[in-house]
Amino acid sequence: MSHDKKVALTKEYVHKELQNDPSGHDWWHIARVTEMAKKIAIEENADLFICEMAALLHDIADEKLNASEAEGIKKITNWLETIEIDKPAIEKIIAIISSISFKGGGQPALTSLEAKVVQDADRLDALGAIGIARTFAYAGSKGDLIYDPAIKPRESMTKEEYRNGKSTAINHFYEKLLKLKDRMNTDYAKKIAEERHQFMQEYLRVFFAEWKD
Ligand code: ADP
Ligand code: NI
Repeated sequence: MSHDKKVALTKEYVHKELQNDPSGHDWWHIARVTEMAKKIAIEENADLFICEMAALLHDIADEKLNASEAEGIKKITNWLETIEIDKPAIEKIIAIISSISFKGGGQPALTSLEAKVVQDADRLDALGAIGIARTFAYAGSKGDLIYDPAIKPRESMTKEEYRNGKSTAINHFYEKLLKLKDRMNTDYAKKIAEERHQFMQEYLRVFFAEWKD
């Protein structure tokens, strides 16, 4: 089976799995991240096939969508075996997917160039106009408010607190989104992140100006 065929089958599979996800991990998030990962991979001379496959599958194992992280990883491994990806490539793809999630910030540094590429692509989709839309969609799906002046952004938190603690959509900008531009791995992503960062700051400025009116 050709690489193109494997990619096409994986697109179909992921589309089916994530079609109706309401938490910002819908198929179009995956499509955007995959296109961005390919662009960055070309700029950085990374392995295009590995980046594309990891980007397509990166949210299939998400802990929010599976009983456990291990179960999610098993699901991806099974899929890659089904389409006859060789073992070293499966290991690379799994290593990328298990290492890139944000989870409150305290993650180990990434080792492979391909992991850096896919992480940057995923993080860029959390920024800018689309990032803002995803934040409010996610907060809504979780039952959080848009904003509450009585709930202060959290300075530091464990993975558990990050996922389950009470917060607001606006606080998420301070707890995660505004920190991302300094955590990009590749120069190409840094440039895009800088622009999207400025737009979010402008958005927050207007948001708080209206709040006071
Ligand atoms: P992470 O990268 O932290 O694992 P996800 O990528 O699963 O988070 O998050 C999906 C989208 O929802 C992202 O755009 C992210 O910024 C946003 N998001 C995550 N957690 C929250 C939250 N507590 N409130 C609002 N938006 C959130
Ligand atoms: Ni993602």
